[in-house]
Amino acid sequence: MAILGIMSAMHEELAAVLDAMPGKQRVGVAGRDFWVGHWQGQEVVAVLSRIGKVAAATTATALIERFGVDRLVFTGVAGGVGPGVRVGDVVLADSFVQHDMDASPLFARHEVPLYGRSRFDTHAELSRGLAAAAQQVLSQLGTHVGPQAVAEFGLHAPRLHMGLIASGDRFVSSAAECQTLQQALPEALAVEMEGAAVAQVCADYGVPFAALRTISDRADDDAHADFSRFVREVASRYSLAILSAWRLV
Ligand code: ADE
Repeated sequence: MAILGIMSAMHEELAAVLDAMPGKQRVGVAGRDFWVGHWQGQEVVAVLSRIGKVAAATTATALIERFGVDRLVFTGVAGGVGPGVRVGDVVLADSFVQHDMDASPLFARHEVPLYGRSRFDTHAELSRGLAAAAQQVLSQLGTHVGPQAVAEFGLHAPRLHMGLIASGDRFVSSAAECQTLQQALPEALAVEMEGAAVAQVCADYGVPFAALRTISDRADDDAHADFSRFVREVASRYSLAILSAWRLV
């Protein structure tokens, strides 16, 4: 039977998933808690990714090597960098790049040395299913997010975007840095700190991978404001609802 790995970047998101996994077992590996159980009749292993590319790569490798997961989904938050990517929107990755990878002049900027490429694609079919679930959840925003959070975070007609996500070991929190990133990678829709590493591990092992990020900030000077509340009251609700609505084939 197929085993799905669920990686969440934030405690609050993982907690919401774990609540829906009765009878789960904790298995400790590499200082992480892996939760083995079932999600809607599907065997799953859920785990906190930890933060940053190396930590997330270790977590993904353990999921594949030790727990035998044969598909992997990642949920978390990201800073919106593409035009029109607003707080409360959702970005589904079709590919990832490491914005801080630069082995020039030996290799082209962003190219991962010895891979001959800078982009790592997600799995089209897994992503299609997740996109359908996300559309459904976003169209019923008020069912999943309380009216106070909707008003406070100005969540109006949130949209689903699909495209490139840039990952790097930096929390991007200034307009100047965000602009530099936009100039280097004009197609990037969002920035976060793990996805490209997990995509690379999944490519190494041939494991299908999909990733979904709720936009928590615009990667500018206000990027830190109310981050935890946003994760608790918006992003973790979205993630749970989207994963619940996701029909795996
Ligand atoms: N995750 C959420 N917001 C982010 C940002 N601005 N930079 C990096 N990772 C993030």
